[in-house]
Amino acid sequence: MIIAIDGPAGAGKTTIGRALARYFRCKFINTGAMYRAVAWALQQGAQLEETELNVDEQGRLIVDGQVLHEDKLYRLELDEFASKIARRPEVRVKLIALQRELAKESNVVMEGRDIGTVVLPHADVKLYIDAPIRERARRRLHQRPRTSLEEILKELEDRDQRDQGFGRLSPAPDAVMLTTAGKTPEESIAQALQVVREALGRKTSMP
Ligand code: DC
Repeated sequence: MIIAIDGPAGAGKTTIGRALARYFRCKFINTGAMYRAVAWALQQGAQLEETELNVDEQGRLIVDGQVLHEDKLYRLELDEFASKIARRPEVRVKLIALQRELAKESNVVMEGRDIGTVVLPHADVKLYIDAPIRERARRRLHQRPRTSLEEILKELEDRDQRDQGFGRLSPAPDAVMLTTAGKTPEESIAQALQVVREALGRKTSMP
């Protein structure tokens, strides 16, 4: 089974994706973390062609044989750099191939910007998760307390712009649109779970 989750930064994709993966006993794959890992490797002076990237059974990123921990990836400077290098076609080609390979091996919940449109257009269920930019910025501020709300708003606006193209941030025609506006994480998870259950039910009852 494949569940694709797309939407902009700070909409709640990871919280929902992890919960769905736990519920359906699927592997959770966060493709944004892959773009961040490539950005991190390039920052360290590595060459793209020589950088070997993988995801282990626990969903951890492995760069050149070493586990790359999340604290290295979720930093302010990588928010911007990852979004910039994600516009390089050769980066996308490399990561999309890996993402498709990972989805072949097992049941997955995969989250990103182009999963339902480009990476896995045959996914069983597609969710597109969104929330107003101010609310996304407030959540980010909580995660990155050293910056101001205005600074994060500006950063998110730039990123929303930059993260378009290549089939990103445009919902697939068959995606279910969800908003996490005004909802607690638990309410957003419950809503997504219900939608996925219904969609899977419809699918299995089809002739
Ligand atoms: O989900 P995130 O914010 O951690 O992702 C980091 C960057 O990676 C994001 O700014 C855009 C890019 N990205 C992408 O281009 N395609 C994806 N499927 C996932 C992320």
